[in-house]
Amino acid sequence: MLAIIGGSGLTQLSSLAVTGREIVRTPYGEPSAPLLRGRIARQETLFLPRHGHGHTVPPHRVNYRANLWALKDRGATAIVAVASVGGSRDCHPGDLVLPRQIIDYTHGRAATYFDGEEGRVVHVDFTRPYTPWLRERCLAAARSAGLPLADGGVYGAVNGPRLESAAEIDRMDRDGATLVGMTGMPEAALARELGLPYVAICVVVNHAAGRADSAQTIAMDALVRTLEAGMAEVRRLLDHLDPVDGTGGAP
Ligand code: HPA
Repeated sequence: MLAIIGGSGLTQLSSLAVTGREIVRTPYGEPSAPLLRGRIARQETLFLPRHGHGHTVPPHRVNYRANLWALKDRGATAIVAVASVGGSRDCHPGDLVLPRQIIDYTHGRAATYFDGEEGRVVHVDFTRPYTPWLRERCLAAARSAGLPLADGGVYGAVNGPRLESAAEIDRMDRDGATLVGMTGMPEAALARELGLPYVAICVVVNHAAGRADSAQTIAMDALVRTLEAGMAEVRRLLDHLDPVDGTGGAP
């Protein structure tokens, strides 16, 4: 079953015909909100707003382990995460981007299910952090919705909740990051540890600090307008996603 993790600006999915609401407890505590179950377009879907239904949980306090665990426990077989981000190289406000890679700059977050407590050491492969077949599904959905979804990009995951200094963005630029956001990690890695295919659809809501119209400061009012317009496009894209069974037809 498809699961959607909504970010800022996507605490509700208007096209989700809700059939259930479940409070889930996990060995890692409570997820950000009760899970909503329903149908989008042609498939049964779980929906979880990453920051809570009232947008009250800041990025560094999100219980990522509980969120992913709860979704898997309730039958999710593939995760489409939605996130708002800042754009640096070649990424501009209003763009929809499907990153191919990620760099983790976060710290102090509970970032693994494999803490050694079970008496074993586990290292998961993370060469391609976003699941290729699920990326293809998103690109196909964008095409059939008539929406431009940029194929590629490197998500730089920062801790927040403050925005970055211009020098931090310069450094991330040198590293090759093209997007900057606060929630991409450990979410992507935890999905991999649970064996859940995972992609992120990113809405660029501002130029990153020190870039273009964010040269002096990041204007939050324009950011909110871009966010709303971008999330409306994401909803349309999600309506065009083909049903997922968790394998993408792959062996
Ligand atoms: N930086 C970090 N996270 C963000 C930004 C940004 O500029 N915009 C939206 N999320």
